[in-house]
Amino acid sequence: MRAVAAEEQAKAERPEPLGLYVHVPFCASTCAFCAFYQVTPTAESVKCFVNCLSAEGGLVGWDRPLSTVFWGGGTPGLLSAADLGRLGDVVHSIPGGAAPAEWTVELAPSSVTKERLAALRSAGVTRVSLGVQSFRPALLEALGRAHTRERVYRAYDRAGFASVNLDLMFALPGQTASEWEADIDEAVSLAPDHISTYCLTFEEDTALWVKLSQGRVRLDTENEARMYERTWERLGAAGYEQYEISNFARAGHQCAHNVNTWRMGEWAGLGPSAASQKGGWRGSNIADLSKWAVLVGRGERMTEDRTALTPALLAEDALVFGLRMNQGVDLGRLRTRCPDAPWGRVGALIDRLAAEGLVALDGPWVRLEPRGRLLADSVGSEIMVAFAPPAAAVAC
Ligand SMILES: C[S@@+](CC[C@H](N)C(=O)[O-])C[C@H]1O[C@@H](n2cnc3c(N)ncnc32)[C@H](O)[C@@H]1O
Ligand code: SF4
Repeated sequence: MRAVAAEEQAKAERPEPLGLYVHVPFCASTCAFCAFYQVTPTAESVKCFVNCLSAEGGLVGWDRPLSTVFWGGGTPGLLSAADLGRLGDVVHSIPGGAAPAEWTVELAPSSVTKERLAALRSAGVTRVSLGVQSFRPALLEALGRAHTRERVYRAYDRAGFASVNLDLMFALPGQTASEWEADIDEAVSLAPDHISTYCLTFEEDTALWVKLSQGRVRLDTENEARMYERTWERLGAAGYEQYEISNFARAGHQCAHNVNTWRMGEWAGLGPSAASQKGGWRGSNIADLSKWAVLVGRGERMTEDRTALTPALLAEDALVFGLRMNQGVDLGRLRTRCPDAPWGRVGALIDRLAAEGLVALDGPWVRLEPRGRLLADSVGSEIMVAFAPPAAAVAC
């Protein structure tokens, strides 16, 4: 009894993390690879966005202070300094939103200016994430990026936040392994606190996807695997610890907001297309600025893909996403949190994956081996099948 009471008291003193994600749906142009929801901004649409965001914030039941805030997009850094200040006020007006421990803003290097950075600093932003993608001029052009290599340097020199991340992409059409290594080395030479390395996904209806379906570019999975391995070696040797398939950080610089989502914590998403997971529900806002504004005006949010979070669904996702983290998953804790999941089938699968050298077991912990990390998507699919009701598992 005493142990339970102590645990309850500890929980009350140190509540579970709560994140806030804000989707800022504006970009100056559309990159060849990108499927995130975004439109070209106008004075009218930006005004509507900021006002409706404030209204949407009023629809959420904020039951504890925010631990992290993440403004993604789109390109939040495209808003004027004054609009960034207004967006900051929306966060401050949320109960418990005065001073989150981590506040990240995604910036495209082409939109970084002193005025915008000053507005972000005075709002309380602690971390910026620069979408570099590559330092090679030809690749930047092929991706449809609006910045040059020089612009990245200028943006990085000006940034000056407690934590700075650089986003890089690999397995790009025409990119060689040595070009990729040169990009990694150039990013490392800037000494950021965090580096995200994303393997190109051909998202439906993007310009690159059209080229792939027309046979004008092709997939090269062997080259992709080689690039993954080189990334781990090179960034590890440079002092960046890998903590998730695509993410590397110096000590103390992991992205707490993303870690909370991968650990299946709670967050509220505001803005068109933003996803939320809170109060036993998961769902997304509609990916359309005008329709989102109408729905918010009616007091409605999270209208798309609304799903009740059953213990089995939470366990499945905690395992699929938790395994993408190098620390892995504490299966003992997960079983206690979600005792009703099909642990017999899942346990048998994990034993098989261990026998195949894809995962390692260490007491209650399970984590991906390097070969498992290369096959993380298919390991994730197998876990989903093991969690599915038997009839669905047979149908798959
Ligand atoms: C939501 S985007 C926004 C970043 C910001 N607007 C910019 O472009 O600088 C965040 C990151 O996701 C990555 N990303 C977006 N689409 C991708 C894709 N199809 N494949 C791999 N990475 C992708 C890029 O590295 C990008 O910087
Ligand atoms: S990658 Fe960034 S700048 Fe490019 S279209 Fe996507 S959100 Fe906009």
